[in-house]
Parts: sequence; structure tokens; C-alpha cells
Amino acid sequence: MSLNLNGRRRPSPLRPNSSFAFENPLAPTMDKDVHPVIHEGRVAVITGAASGIGRAAALEFAKIGMKVALADVSEAQLNSARDEVAAIVGDANVLAIPTDVSKLEEVVRLRDRVYEAWGEVGVLMNNAGIGIKGTSWDGLDNWHKIFDVNLFGIVNVQHTFVPSMLHQENQAVIINTGSKQGITNPPGNAAYNASKAAVKSLTEGLAHELRNTPSANLTAHLLVPGWVWTGLTGASSGKEKPAGAWTPQETVLFMLDRVRQGKFYIICPDNDTSAELDQLRIMWGAGDVAEGRPALSRWHADYKALFEEYIRDGLAQLG
Ligand SMILES: NC(=O)c1ccc[n+]([C@@H]2O[C@H](COP(=O)([O-])OP(=O)(O)OC[C@H]3O[C@@H](n4cnc5c(N)ncnc54)[C@H](O)[C@@H]3O)[C@@H](O)[C@H]2O)c1
Repeated sequence: MSLNLNGRRRPSPLRPNSSFAFENPLAPTMDKDVHPVIHEGRVAVITGAASGIGRAAALEFAKIGMKVALADVSEAQLNSARDEVAAIVGDANVLAIPTDVSKLEEVVRLRDRVYEAWGEVGVLMNNAGIGIKGTSWDGLDNWHKIFDVNLFGIVNVQHTFVPSMLHQENQAVIINTGSKQGITNPPGNAAYNASKAAVKSLTEGLAHELRNTPSANLTAHLLVPGWVWTGLTGASSGKEKPAGAWTPQETVLFMLDRVRQGKFYIICPDNDTSAELDQLRIMWGAGDVAEGRPALSRWHADYKALFEEYIRDGLAQLG
């Protein structure tokens, strides 16, 4: 690591365009060849990389020419993902490391393997997640399991990787995967919703702490997928993708575009839910708190008509 007299890091040799405005949300979508992190030769580490969104991300990073470390608990699927990624970017540029993110020692091993092989991490994608069910007074074991993976998996990875990434000269990004269920809290799986609400909170805190760490050349991003056809939502049944869902690849391409623009919140639409509808639902949820309506009034019989009117009027205005 080298610092200049102003305490700022020198430009990375991998950073082709020093005038790039990373934090500017209005910056145009950048070509993949000029982004300093999503760039040929940089390193991506993805948890939950054996299937779904994580696997699609691994393939897209490989197409850009990045080195890719795949981590997952599912070894069989991990190996098949490894072969697919290696076919694009070559054996030397892929690592497949069986890792249970809920186990700190396995996350430490993952970090050590990546740094030994490649000496840096450009993109750290905390994507591993499970959707087992826990309601408010049922499924206690599932509550523990889901928090161990969805929340403590990310906490483990942040605690293990961030101290090393802070010392890197080259710019880097951390992308944590939340969910709309962690923002608007639809009834059905309280354990999953609570774990993803915690991921939102954790990642907002990470972004704040990083931008207040003068030597950090590292930004945080919250990926909030829409409805994506993956193992989590039924794709392993072999059924065809429902029209309303996005493919994992669509989700990853949307994510990459927004990371290139420096966005923190990456709220993905899908074929059923537009960005405007998401915006209104999020505002309504915040309105419950600010205006003192009952919890989850969106699903409360007394508020049904009001909510529907709010959405109708809001869409007419936004559209
Ligand atoms: N699919 C959707 O509609 C959707 C919507 C919102 C958020 N998400 C989130 O996206 C992320 C990716 O999920 P997906 O939809 O691609 O599902 P998926 O089931 O296809 O992929 C999740 C991967 O995580 C792995 N995993 C599970 N537990 C793990 C552990 N302890 N350690 C390491 N890996 C583990 C699984 O083996 C699997 O390969 C998850 O965090 C999920 O909550 C998905």
C-alpha cells in the first residue's frame, strides 16, 4: 500500500480513467472496459455462487475477463459452476472453494485462499441466502438457521474480508444481497423478512462506516432483487420461468449497470413490478411509521381501498 502526501491513494494501474466519477448517480452507464473494479484482471468473490443469481454473476464477471472465486455449500453444483466459468475465463482464473458462510473458520479459509492466489479482491458479493420459513411463533430452528446464513454469513464475510480490503490500493466494492421483503415486509415468512431487513441495516451501516474511513477505497452496495427465477423461487422444479420473473442474468446485468453508476440502493424491477410500483410500495411502508398507521397497513382490510387509490394515483402521476 502506498499513500501520497495528501493521504490519498495513488491511482491503480488497473484504473484506466482517473476522472471517473464513481459516486455520481447521474454518471452515464460506463462501458465495461473503463470501470475500475468491474474490469478485466480484477478479482470477484461470490458467496452462494453455485446457482441462481450468484452463478449468473460469476458468468458475467468471467465474460468481462475477471478472476472469479466461487464459494458455496453445495459442492456438486459448485463444481459444475466452476467448469462453466472456466470455459469462459480459463482454469487459472477460477477458484471453487466449498464454504459455509455461517462458519467463520470456513470464511477465513476462503479469504486466505483468494489472497494467496490473487492478492486482492475487487468485487465481494455477499449473495448466499436461504428462504426456509419461520413465522412469529413457529419454526424456531429455522429462525436460527436463516439468521446464521442470511445475516451472520454476511457479518462473517465482512469481518473477515473488510480489514484486508481496506489495505488494498485498488478500488473495490462490496455488494450485499437484501430483498424487497426486508424493506416492505410482506406477511408470510417473518424470519426471512427480518433477516433481510437486518441485511439492509447492516449494509447501510457499512456504507456509512466506509465513507468515514479516510483510507478506505471501498464502497458498499445493497442489491435488492425483484422476483428472480432461481432455486429459491422454484426453478429447481424444472418448471418454465413464469412470465413475471426475471432471469438471474437480467438481474446481474441490472446490478452491474447500477454499480457502475455508483448507486447504493439497487432495487431491481421484474416483469410484474415496475420501478414506480416499487417506489410507491416503499413510500407506503415508510408512511405506516411516519403517519402512525397500523403495522403492515398495506395488507390491513381497513386500508385496502386507501392503498389501492394511493397506488392508482401514484402510478398516474409517476407515469
Ligand atoms: N430469487 C429471488 O426472487 C430473490 C429475491 C430477493 C432476494 N434474493 C436473494 O438472492 C440471493 C441469491 O439467491 P437465489 O435466488 O439465486 O437462490 P439460489 O438458491 O439459486 O442460490 C443461493 C445459493 O446460496 C447457497 N447457499 C445457501 N446456504 C449457504 C451457506 N451457508 N454458505 C454458502 N452458500 C450457501 C446455495 O447453495 C445456493 O447455491 C439470496 O440471498 C436470496 O435471498 C432472491
